Amino acid sequence: MPRPIQACIDLAALRHNYLIAKSSVAGQGQPARAWAVVKADAYGHGLMRAATALADVADGYALLDLEAAVALRDAGFRQPILLLEGFFEPADLGACAEYGLIPCIHRIEQLHMIRAAALPVRLPIYLKLNTGMNRLGFTPDQMPDVRHELAVSSALGTVTLMTHFAEADGGRGIAWQLERFEAMREGWSAACPVSLANSAAILRYPQTAHDWVRPGIMLYGGSPFADADAASFDLKPVMTLHSRILAVQEIVAGERVGYGGTFEAQQPMRVGVVACGYADGYPRHAPSGTPILVAGQRTQTLGRVSMDMLACDLSTLPEAGVDSPVVLWGEGLPADEVAAAAGTISYELFCALARRVPVVEV
Ligand SMILES: Cc1ncc(COP(=O)(O)O)c(C=O)c1O
Repeated sequence: MPRPIQACIDLAALRHNYLIAKSSVAGQGQPARAWAVVKADAYGHGLMRAATALADVADGYALLDLEAAVALRDAGFRQPILLLEGFFEPADLGACAEYGLIPCIHRIEQLHMIRAAALPVRLPIYLKLNTGMNRLGFTPDQMPDVRHELAVSSALGTVTLMTHFAEADGGRGIAWQLERFEAMREGWSAACPVSLANSAAILRYPQTAHDWVRPGIMLYGGSPFADADAASFDLKPVMTLHSRILAVQEIVAGERVGYGGTFEAQQPMRVGVVACGYADGYPRHAPSGTPILVAGQRTQTLGRVSMDMLACDLSTLPEAGVDSPVVLWGEGLPADEVAAAAGTISYELFCALARRVPVVEV
């Protein structure tokens, strides 16, 4: 019998969440189209699985790897595909043209490469503007060169202007970046499509929707906000990580639990040992007190997370014992809550799900 750990992926929830993204921006004039952001193996949920589940609703897919994009095309997906980090070398451009992929362009050399490539089709691009994230994209002083290159190049198809918000989920918001974006956009044709919004902006600033939005974490039922949970936006968890109790220890006051003995019992306790550890993707840095569900009841972890196991408190759950079902995160226990207890975000929990964990679709 395999270890009892299993990740369940709720495909109906994924579709539901995508439609929430669409409806969140539906009231903003011409409804925006939505790239389903499926990078990082669909945030750990499985690229092909997620793409298939969304196939008849998704306006397009956004991801990073050329190889993954080509795999989608080979599997028959015909929607537009956006390469969020663009292309990496001229040799990638043939595939972009052949498979109809749209690269994000963030360095002037990439525009030169497209012009030099003599592609059989005009290549549509997303032009990434750096409005304050300072990760990828053109700065205002680079724009004259960009505009010159666009004027002299006949190799390009539709040019979409994009930027990425650094603090749509936080107190500083988006106004400061929007201001910079509008200044950089001045003089561009109004017909030039625009794509700005990630999940946080879709939910909090739907007026930024424009032509295309780029929902990521919200598709998977995670909240982009530390101060608002996913359920408050009617988002449903997609990944639920299940396991079982595989042993129970009765300990007396003064006994410690796990490596390093970081948790010490102050009174007699029942300790459940769960078949899940950091080699399954559970965060090793989750401290004692991280929430966990045992037999549907909320309790907390105890001591350090080991490679294959972690401990939890069964003292208040006398009916729980060996074989009791455990939910590490997902249905009944938001991944955001577990992530917050562990000092991280649900994005990281989902992406870290280990390959050794069997996945079932529900
Ligand atoms: C360019 C870009 N757009 C959209 C997203 C989706 O962001 P989120 O998962 O916060 O919705 C990301 C994710 O990092 C991104 O890099």
